[in-house]
Amino acid sequence: MSRELEIKTVITEFDSLDELPASDAALLEVAGNAADSAYAPYSHFNVGAAVLLENGEIVPGNNQENVAYPSGLCAERVALFSVGAHHPNITVKAIAITAKSERFNLDEPLAPCGACRQVMVEYEKKAGQSIRIILRGQEGKIHVINGVTDILPLSFSSDKLKGK
Ligand code: THU
Repeated sequence: MSRELEIKTVITEFDSLDELPASDAALLEVAGNAADSAYAPYSHFNVGAAVLLENGEIVPGNNQENVAYPSGLCAERVALFSVGAHHPNITVKAIAITAKSERFNLDEPLAPCGACRQVMVEYEKKAGQSIRIILRGQEGKIHVINGVTDILPLSFSSDKLKGK
């Protein structure tokens, strides 16, 4: 017998920054500033991320490109690995991600790439609690997601290494 299993993702959409909780708007602002100093001479697509820690500290990151293209790294992983290096024992509570391009106007929320979602799942597991995700483009609507597994269901996790 076969059956269809449905997976549900819940996104809270806000029309403008004014409607967003102040702490989310503040985190997005740090992400926006980080995007301004991204090193993206090849794509001209500047991404900024800001990670909120349990102690209130905010750790920024931005994309770092390389002439050998795959050697570069996304903003989200730059920020999260910086947390791992500098604050290894402090829980990640939220991440805001935004992007801007000088070539076009990005008016939709930026969705993080699959590899960054996988890294976020790792930090969520490590923290033992959900990481709030706040997404925005250069302007327009904002998407808030309550946990990484919502945007990376069926993820590869450490349970799989142990078997049942
Ligand atoms: N990029 C990010 O920083 N985060 C994402 O989630 C998607 C893509 C970067 C990688 C590259 O420097 C540029 O955006 C274009 O792909």
